[in-house]
Amino acid sequence: MYVVFILIVSVYNVFILSTTALPITCPSSTGEWCQTKEIAAVTKQCTSFVWKTTADNDRVNFTIYYESLCADCRQFTITQVWFAYQAVIDIVNLTFVPYGNAHEVYRPETQLYQFYCQHGSDECYANLIHTCAIASYPDIHQHMPFLYCMDSTFGDVETVARQCARNTSIDFEKITTCTNSRMGNQLQHIYAVQTEQTKPADAFVPYVTLNGNHTDEIQDLAQTDLIALLCNTYKGSNPPARCKKTK
Ligand SMILES: *[C@@H]1O[C@H](CO)[C@@H](O)[C@H](O)[C@H]1NC(C)=O
Ligand SMILES: *[C@@H]1O[C@H](CO)[C@@H](O)[C@H](O)[C@H]1NC(C)=O
Ligand SMILES: *[C@@H]1O[C@H](CO)[C@@H](O)[C@H](O)[C@H]1NC(C)=O
Ligand SMILES: *[C@@H]1O[C@H](CO)[C@@H](O)[C@H](O)[C@H]1NC(C)=O
Repeated sequence: MYVVFILIVSVYNVFILSTTALPITCPSSTGEWCQTKEIAAVTKQCTSFVWKTTADNDRVNFTIYYESLCADCRQFTITQVWFAYQAVIDIVNLTFVPYGNAHEVYRPETQLYQFYCQHGSDECYANLIHTCAIASYPDIHQHMPFLYCMDSTFGDVETVARQCARNTSIDFEKITTCTNSRMGNQLQHIYAVQTEQTKPADAFVPYVTLNGNHTDEIQDLAQTDLIALLCNTYKGSNPPARCKKTK
C-alpha cells in the first residue's frame, strides 16, 4: 500500500513538473499539500477537508432560548431550525438553551434548585433531559437529531425520550445518570441564569439571538426564513452551496 502510494505521488510530481513548470517546489509529503494555494491540483480536496476547519471563527452564532413543551418552540425546531441544520450547519454555531419561561428557587435544605415550568413538572423533566443530552453529547450532530425527535413526538416525556434515544444513538442511561445528579441540576441552573441575563422576562419563546443580538427583525426572519438569515449574516469566505442560491 505504502509503496503504491509513493509511486503515485512520484508519478504525479513528475507529471506536474514536466507539463506546467510551476515556479514552486512540490511538497514531498501529503501533509504539506494544503499549505499553499499554488498547489492548485488539490485545491478542491484542501477546501473540503483542511481549509474548511479553519473557518470556525467565522461561524454565525445562533442561539435558541426555548422550553421543551411549548408548541411554538417545538414547531420552530422541527421546521426552520431543522431545515437550517440540514442545509447550512457548516457556517453556524447552533446553541439550544432549554429553560424558557421557567423559574427556579434554591432550596438550602437539599442544596438543589427547584424548577417551576410553564407547562408543569413534565416540562421541567423534559427540559432537564434536553439539558443533559446537550451536555452528554455536545456535538450538534449528536444532540440535534435527538432534540428533533423529542420535539416532533407527542406522548409521555420519558417514553418519548427513551424511544428517541434509541432511534438517534443516544445512551438513555447516560442521560438518566445526568438527570438524577447534582450535575444535571447545576447545568439546568446555568441555563436559568443565562436565560435571565439574555431574555426579558415578558418575552415570548422561542427567543433567538444572532451573534448575541436580538431584534424584532431578527426574530421575524428566523421564524420565516432562517436559512436566508444565516446565509446573509455569514461573512466568512466559504459559504455553502445552499447560501449562493438564496442571494
Ligand atoms: C458557540 O456558541 C457557544 C455559546 O454561545 C460559545 O460558547 C462558543 O464559544 C461558540 N463557538 C464558536 C466556534 O463560535
Ligand atoms: C423510532 O423508530 C421506530 C422504527 O423506525 C419507529 O417506528 C418509531 O416511530 C420511532 N420513534 C420515534 C419516537 O421517533
Ligand atoms: C461567536 O461567539 C464566540 C464566543 O462567544 C465569539 O468568539 C465569536 O466571535 C462569535 N462569532 C461571531 C461571528 O460573532
Ligand atoms: C449586533 O450588535 C452589535 C453592537 O450593537 C453590532 O455592531 C452588530 O452589527 C450587531 N449584529 C447584528 C447581526 O445585528
